[in-house]
Amino acid sequence: MPDVNLFTPGRINGFETRNRMIMAPMTRSRANAGAVPSEIAIEYYTQRAAAGLIITEGTAPAAAGLGYARTPSIHTPDQINAWKKITGAVHASGGHIFLQLMHVGRIGHSANRITEELLVAPSSIRAAGQMWTDKLGMQDNDMPRALETSEIPGVISQYAQATRNGLAAGFDGVELHSASGYLPMQFLSTGSNHRTDGYGGSLQKRLRFVIETLEAMIRAAGTSSRIGIKISPAMPFNDIQDDNPVETYTALVEAISPMGLAYLHVLRTPPIPNIFEILRPLYKGIFAAGGAFTLNSGNAMLSAGGADFIVFGKLFTSNPDLPTRFQKGLPLADPDPTTFYSPGPKGYIDFPAVS
Ligand SMILES: Cc1cc2nc3c(=O)[nH]c(=O)nc-3n(C[C@H](O)[C@H](O)[C@H](O)COP(=O)(O)O)c2cc1C
Repeated sequence: MPDVNLFTPGRINGFETRNRMIMAPMTRSRANAGAVPSEIAIEYYTQRAAAGLIITEGTAPAAAGLGYARTPSIHTPDQINAWKKITGAVHASGGHIFLQLMHVGRIGHSANRITEELLVAPSSIRAAGQMWTDKLGMQDNDMPRALETSEIPGVISQYAQATRNGLAAGFDGVELHSASGYLPMQFLSTGSNHRTDGYGGSLQKRLRFVIETLEAMIRAAGTSSRIGIKISPAMPFNDIQDDNPVETYTALVEAISPMGLAYLHVLRTPPIPNIFEILRPLYKGIFAAGGAFTLNSGNAMLSAGGADFIVFGKLFTSNPDLPTRFQKGLPLADPDPTTFYSPGPKGYIDFPAVS
């Protein structure tokens, strides 16, 4: 087999990618009132269209799933129309773009929400930690209420509807955000899921929400090849904790492997440094690896067959033309964390391409 590197064209079920570089989903907090993506987001994503695939910032499937300041959703006509402009511009530049569906579950504050509804979670356990609100500054996460068993199909159907909305808006596919301590990971994890019904209490029951959500998204899309999933086993972010993450994610990956998804996207975090080696052999489809990759470590991972795609996050914020800079050996601009989540164009669309 010829040596694969970051610049080798790839294939994600159904379409060709010009390289093996994926731009990671990144919340940038520039949405307008009503959780509508802003006009500058068109420019932001288009500047980065040279990635083999862009995955959007986390986007709420329904108002109840939104917890952060200035983050977008995809459940109203205004939101869908704004996303349409973004997908159209990225496609016109020859890129591909997936929508990331992110339901925050118990991570959020009422000052950031566009609904009076309380946060919902598998169990009524407040997540330790604070988040930014534009009205009140830093605030503790709100106390969530536990979802009734009878409500869970409704939450899953919101993901299905958001999948239909995403495809109607022109996305090439939709990624289920099952990482970073948000709702799906709250169901997967023993620390946040104390349920005693069909959605908690045993490993198989903790997996059920994610599996049923994927199944509903696949039905909504009419094909599994447009649905991806992101996981971050053992990531401690957002006060998430699991007694045995290797067991949990081994079982999850074995369960989803036959589904024929577009890809499995795994974020490696320090508690399990060999998570790719554990999960890659269990998964039959396309495997995308992310977490602090560089040009050299990305190429090494691909050529060793450890992954099919490499996901880059922070470097794409400050290097819109990252693939060309890597390929030509051009210098990289350092990411600027002070503008990751600040409103307006500064630090968002003003990092120039040098290539
Ligand atoms: C500003 C910022 C926002 C992020 N927002 C999201 C998000 O909305 N959804 C998500 O799955 N991950 C999010 N992440 C995590 C990234 O997708 C990625 O997994 C992480 O940054 C590790 O990759 P890197 O080391 O190449 O940056 C975010 C990361 C950053 C830096």
